[in-house]
Amino acid sequence: MKGVVLAGGTGSRLHPLTQITNKHLLPIYDRPMIQWAIEAVVKAGITEVMLVTGGAHAGDFLRLLGNGNDVGLDRLSYAYQDGPGGIAQALGLAERFAENEPVLVMLADNVIERSIAPMVNAFRAEPTGARILLSPVERPEHLRHLGVPEIGPDGRVVRILEKPEEPPSAYAVTGVYCYDAQVFSVIPTLIPSARNELEITDVNNHYASLGVLQYDVLEGFWGDAGESIDAYYAVNDFVRAHGANKG
Ligand code: G1P
Repeated sequence: MKGVVLAGGTGSRLHPLTQITNKHLLPIYDRPMIQWAIEAVVKAGITEVMLVTGGAHAGDFLRLLGNGNDVGLDRLSYAYQDGPGGIAQALGLAERFAENEPVLVMLADNVIERSIAPMVNAFRAEPTGARILLSPVERPEHLRHLGVPEIGPDGRVVRILEKPEEPPSAYAVTGVYCYDAQVFSVIPTLIPSARNELEITDVNNHYASLGVLQYDVLEGFWGDAGESIDAYYAVNDFVRAHGANKG
């Protein structure tokens, strides 16, 4: 299984901090944000990663991470996303790198208290379809900025709504996803959303419609540090006090 860490986007929600750097290079406690995502992937037993980024500061990732050996990787590859085409488009750039293996995809602004290894191991045990990681979120005004699953009476995800006015459950879809290699055939079929991006939620909904979307529910803290300045500081405060990727 290979890892794809997505670190693109314009970071508009963190302006003006992101006018002079990429969002994923901003500090979370004692290191640049990207390093927490790489650590999460490494702790899930994945040693070959492609980092997808874009924009004016892409070279700084190479300066920070080099060949990846210092952060526990055997091989770190890079891809450059030309323009803001969305998370699913960014993932599509990793097709050749994936070499028909399943992939763990992680959005590099997601910071998690506990290890993601249990979810990744569950997918390894049954590596077909897709597997997502949900986090309980109580406040509807928070869920309105996220992907939210509608869960059927049988406990399966019926579909995911992206940034819904009326959240259909009290779970957020975090930015951690496992896919079989079919994902690279799904991406070219997607239609750009209202924000003119290829949405990862549409990829997940494709799997949901086939009945092959599984999920795990995360225990402990999860934060999307790119969601807002306040979220960025909430993640910083949490990691400073408690750490991340534990266990
Ligand atoms: C993306 C996904 C969303 C998910 C979130 C988690 O949102 O589209 O479904 O809940 O990441 O971080 P974005 O950050 O692109 O608005």
